[in-house]
Amino acid sequence: MTKKTLKKAKKVGAGGELTDVLLASKKIYKPAVKITKEAVVKDWEKARSEADKDPLKYWEEAAKDLVWFKPWTQVLDKSQKPFYKWFIGGQTNLAYNAIDRWLNTPCEDKIAIMSEDETGRARKFTYKEVAREVNKIVNGLKGLGVKKGDRIAIYMPNIPEIAFAMLACAKIGAMHSVVYAGYSATALQDRINDASAKIVFTADGSWRRGKAINLKTVVDEAVKNCPSVEKVIVAKNNNQEVPFNPAKDIWLADLVKDQSTESQCAAMDAEDPAFVLYTSGTTSKPKGVVHVHGGYPVGVLRTMKWIWDIKDNDIFWCTADPGWITGHSYIIYGPLMAGVTTIMYEGTPDFPEQDHIWSMVEKYKVTILYTAPTLIRAMMSLGDDLPDKHEMPSLRLLGSVGEPINPKAWKWYYEHIGKSKRPVLDTWWQTETGCNMISPLPVTPLKAGSATKPFPGIQADILDMKGKKVPAGSGGYLVIKSPWPSMIRTVFNAPERYLKTYWHEIKGVFFTGDIGFKDKDGYFFIQGRTDDMLKIAGHRLGTAEVESAFVSHPAVAECGVIGVPDEIKGEVIKAFCILKKGFVGDDKLKDELKLHVRHTIGPVAVMKDVAFVDSLPKTRSGKIMRRILKAKELGLPLGDTSALI
Ligand code: PRX
Repeated sequence: MTKKTLKKAKKVGAGGELTDVLLASKKIYKPAVKITKEAVVKDWEKARSEADKDPLKYWEEAAKDLVWFKPWTQVLDKSQKPFYKWFIGGQTNLAYNAIDRWLNTPCEDKIAIMSEDETGRARKFTYKEVAREVNKIVNGLKGLGVKKGDRIAIYMPNIPEIAFAMLACAKIGAMHSVVYAGYSATALQDRINDASAKIVFTADGSWRRGKAINLKTVVDEAVKNCPSVEKVIVAKNNNQEVPFNPAKDIWLADLVKDQSTESQCAAMDAEDPAFVLYTSGTTSKPKGVVHVHGGYPVGVLRTMKWIWDIKDNDIFWCTADPGWITGHSYIIYGPLMAGVTTIMYEGTPDFPEQDHIWSMVEKYKVTILYTAPTLIRAMMSLGDDLPDKHEMPSLRLLGSVGEPINPKAWKWYYEHIGKSKRPVLDTWWQTETGCNMISPLPVTPLKAGSATKPFPGIQADILDMKGKKVPAGSGGYLVIKSPWPSMIRTVFNAPERYLKTYWHEIKGVFFTGDIGFKDKDGYFFIQGRTDDMLKIAGHRLGTAEVESAFVSHPAVAECGVIGVPDEIKGEVIKAFCILKKGFVGDDKLKDELKLHVRHTIGPVAVMKDVAFVDSLPKTRSGKIMRRILKAKELGLPLGDTSALI
């Protein structure tokens, strides 16, 4: 990629204007003395260079922080690369490391989960209480015939029961497949069918901005066409009336009634799959990213300890949803494996009041707040007086994830929430990487809008398409050069997709699909995706998925979609549709199509506009050139058009 192309990418991405980013790379924010004194890792560069000298030794040390039922005999097996295997011969269990390990220790009476919903309903569970809830579900599931290796779909709100369900699956050795509860019935159905899930966990409904959302009917619509599903387990959450079919449905309360509060934990081989999490790919079919019992928790726990610098009395609030990897790793497994208190908030952080997020921080004495640039920008747009109204002395560390954070938003977060004392830890990573990969530690000198440098034990770089290093300041592709324990193992049921997506673009390295550059100090600035992926409010959505939703409408013959910059959400969708004969492209049809796509995919598909066109720019082989659509839309040079017909 040339410098010129990268400039373009920067202009159209959500990373902010190029000038802002370049200016930001010049100013360094030093950590506060107090933070440095308290930090577990005092010398960041030393920690990185020591891990780099012998990454296997480093990761082996990190693995010792977990409880293993049987030790490993080999740290890394590269014999079938890139299907890397870690901690061969070792046996452990993800749920055991999150919950059971704390039983009969002083931590068992500590609050593990504090939850609240929009109506103000608040609940607390100690580690011991979580263990009991999980065990009852384990026994209930076993009674339904669930065993090691089975797949279980979970379509639930951000409530403690979703954590119980996930932990119960992991404890049995069944793979959970959590599907974000904002996805539509069609999206849920596709994911259930791809994994052949036997059981679906859901809730009657959930709350969103004062509205009661009915989840059970979405599940009912989805499972109509899911032959693998034997039972639907329904948690009562907002007590709304929902259809109930006693032949298939079971209330969670009935499943766990009279079940023992003790249960046996399955000893899992380190490489046994723990869960599958679907993420958008470049085709309309989502990819099932597989993570395992051994390596995944090693990466997550090490980042909890070193990046989040976890202390015994931390109150960790990650505002993501358990339906995304951020929620898996940093709402549930990470904080619980670290033995601290995690917060689950059901609703949006700007409801019931616009400053609800800051009221929550104040009320729960949150020490670590981990959120997304979209939310930071939304808060910034509401004015400084909202956070200023709140006393938030408990806050120690601030995190950002999911999309590029533009320097302006970074500075606002740092100054108004961090009071220019608390570090903003911009963490770059992906569903596929399992844990934070490029991120500062609390002691790291920061630059606004940069995720700084790779985490110790991670070898990331910016290369050109031929696999050559690019000079400082020049743009290129972000790659990971060596395996790491919490990496994706395969794409569920599609190992060839794993190879093609991640290992074929640039030989010998893991291709992340992101572009960016390193400055002269080696700081990474990640600017966005190279592929046909959209990032809407930090949520990843494939253009192919959206296009296929459009063409499933009877009026649409062909469609190309692009992401256009949005001040708050980073990116939103603009679609270009060719209509079938006999259909008129008017406002009524526009609205109908927007609704249709929202219904097919879910509210994550935030649409800016639909344009009706007579033709779409295509290559000779018939591929829509979204790049051209985007350049035209944004008034940028068209670049190389030689492939265009
Ligand atoms: O483009 C990068 C962006 O989010 C993508 C991964 O999306 P997903 O798998 O949904 O996981 C999101 C949460 C880990 C990446 O390929 N991304 C994530 N974090 C950052 C980011 N882009 C820039 N800066 C970040 N800190």
